[in-house]
Amino acid sequence: REPYVVSSKGHTAVAINAAAKAGEWIKSRQGQVKSLGTKTSAQDLVTEVDKGVEQMIRRLIQTHYPDHCILGEEGVLPGADEATAALEEVRENEYLWIVDPVDGTTNFVHGFPFYCVSIALVIRGELTVGVIYDPIRDEMFVAEKGKGAYVHGVPTAVSAETELGGSLVAMGFPPDRVFAQPVNMAGLQSILPQVRGIRAGGSAALHLAYVAAGRVDGYWEVGLNPWDCAAGVLLVLESGGAVTDTQGDPYDISTRHVVASNGQIHQAMVDSLKAADATGLTRS
Ligand code: IPD
Ligand code: CA
Ligand code: CA
Ligand code: CA
Repeated sequence: REPYVVSSKGHTAVAINAAAKAGEWIKSRQGQVKSLGTKTSAQDLVTEVDKGVEQMIRRLIQTHYPDHCILGEEGVLPGADEATAALEEVRENEYLWIVDPVDGTTNFVHGFPFYCVSIALVIRGELTVGVIYDPIRDEMFVAEKGKGAYVHGVPTAVSAETELGGSLVAMGFPPDRVFAQPVNMAGLQSILPQVRGIRAGGSAALHLAYVAAGRVDGYWEVGLNPWDCAAGVLLVLESGGAVTDTQGDPYDISTRHVVASNGQIHQAMVDSLKAADATGLTRS
């Protein structure tokens, strides 16, 4: 296949190159995990591949940009507070890379072929580059602020669906079950009867890329971290879609409860989640 994107240089090229190398490595390790550990709960998995790939991506970025700051999932101590603290610390920095070395670790561990690498660059607080690479399908999704989004150089665009009744919607079940399970049950009960179908593929980043590419019409999840969604959010926005928190307020890098859509069904999704007390924000 031709180069991954039409005219990318500099930061974007570094992100694409790192994601491609990382993806190749992850794919080659599927079915051969040597060390399976857990983090915050028995469902929160980590392998030597997650850690090794993150190290590799860090090294690749640092080779080009030794002064830039890097926030990677496996470099942060488990738990949302640590992630938020790390984020505040790095917010001061002009250049912040946000890396999820393997998004969809559970899928990777089980050999369910739906996982990816996600790399974003935030410059002076603004999401500027987003790259998501799916090594199974060899799909490289690339977004640059103000320049659109592409999959292998072909522009991506969100779907044109206007009704929930005609929509295929994705969602996710985060590993923090104590918090997320009741919220998700309420959300499912509210959204499922209204839509054509729901998918929960187990990779937040790929679901966002699929909203960008018009393969699903919307996606929501509570309890995400910046590395799950930063790159995907830029992809959705640059593909003409909308991203907010679950109450409809604007997305920023610290938003954890996310709704992304083609824009047309956005308000209906937010209204349903709010009506069902399924935003994750009001529930204690
Ligand atoms: C997870 C995946 C999953 C989502 C979880 C994330 P990880 O990321 O994106 O789909 O439901 O909330 O934590 O741990 O596989 O990188
Ligand atoms: Ca993880
Ligand atoms: Ca993730
Ligand atoms: Ca991960």
